[in-house]
Amino acid sequence: MNRKNLSIAIILLILAIATVVVFQGLWVPNRSIPKTVESPSDASTPSVLNHTPFGIHINLIDTDPLAISFIWVTLSPTNASILEVTFDNGTVVRLAGVQREYKGVYWHRVILTGLVPGEAFSYRVGDPELSMSDEFKVKLPDNEGPLTFTVYGDQGINKYSRMAVSTALSFNPAFNFHVGDLSYGGANVDIWLKWFSIIEPLAATRPYIVAVGNHEYDGEGDLSDINIYIGSPDESFNYWFVWSNAFFLVINLGPEDDAVLSTDIYNWVRDSLGYASRLDVVKWKFVFLHYPPYSSGVAHGSAPITESLMELFDEYGVDIVFAGHEHNYERTYPIYNGAVVSRNDSLYINPGGTIYVVVGGAGGGLYKDFIEPQPEWSFYREARYSIGVVEIRGDTLVFKAVDSQTGEVFDEFIIIKKD
Ligand SMILES: [Fe+2]
Repeated sequence: MNRKNLSIAIILLILAIATVVVFQGLWVPNRSIPKTVESPSDASTPSVLNHTPFGIHINLIDTDPLAISFIWVTLSPTNASILEVTFDNGTVVRLAGVQREYKGVYWHRVILTGLVPGEAFSYRVGDPELSMSDEFKVKLPDNEGPLTFTVYGDQGINKYSRMAVSTALSFNPAFNFHVGDLSYGGANVDIWLKWFSIIEPLAATRPYIVAVGNHEYDGEGDLSDINIYIGSPDESFNYWFVWSNAFFLVINLGPEDDAVLSTDIYNWVRDSLGYASRLDVVKWKFVFLHYPPYSSGVAHGSAPITESLMELFDEYGVDIVFAGHEHNYERTYPIYNGAVVSRNDSLYINPGGTIYVVVGGAGGGLYKDFIEPQPEWSFYREARYSIGVVEIRGDTLVFKAVDSQTGEVFDEFIIIKKD
């Protein structure tokens, strides 16, 4: 190599090294930008995002007068927690609520009263000067027409949890009932936030009514956290309401399925069902609780804590008891005083007993094992990701068990009440 060629080679080598340094130089600082660079755009973008409402859900707080809570979350505090409601006649109402910091995020709550059954409205929530949510539409059922509600339990935050939501939405229910074990988040607020985001399409557009399960005690252990997350007519999550011709009783049996039932809860259930029985308008009675009085699942089975309640369900003629805890689907024949009162498969005319349904297939895994042989009180059982759907038309009720993955109705029964 002569001197000229050597010079060219050295120049090319220097250029090559410089090229590597330049590209390294472009690459390396980029990796550190999120930590080190601040500019007006970088500073403002997260700020706008952090004020965006998410996890919006509504709950029935009272029915006399009718009141609904609206709850949402922001990652940063806002100057105001505003609910903006547009009624079908064009009237716009703005209500201010409260916000509180809990576990590093901001929980906003507004309660809207003065509604009537059958009312339709759209709404947004947020801080008008920072960020408002998308618009959601709500149509409350009236007190005379048919009533559809969905019910499921044991949900979590996976793809099957989303399927439970989309399947429920496909039936356009007036309410959705969750029979407990909601997110499995315990003290981890990130899991709760994911859960609220998953349920939002359903829970922002109709009351998402909750019965607490054992896993709702995994966080603070006293439901103080759950009461921040979820609106309820009662801080202990024991409550009832009447809608149309139906009575809905939501019972919290605490953190242990084999504990001794408290006398207070027993008496409250007795008094509540007794009251419902004196209401002429009430044709149907439903109970929602987490632990199943009847289950042939191996994981938990029939819950001892429910044993004394069944005499009350008999005495006051409860039509259906919905439970979860067992992550599967199971449905009994109508039962009275511990005995099957009808062996029909799917049509019950004045059955004279209570049907017990486990709807624990909303996403939190499946418990596939059942005790063998199948107990004589159990009509159908299967480990499926699924939800329950109830349609009431006057004195006729149709129940469907619906596969969340396929939409298939894999079990169905009809109850007809004739005077
Ligand atoms: Fe459970």
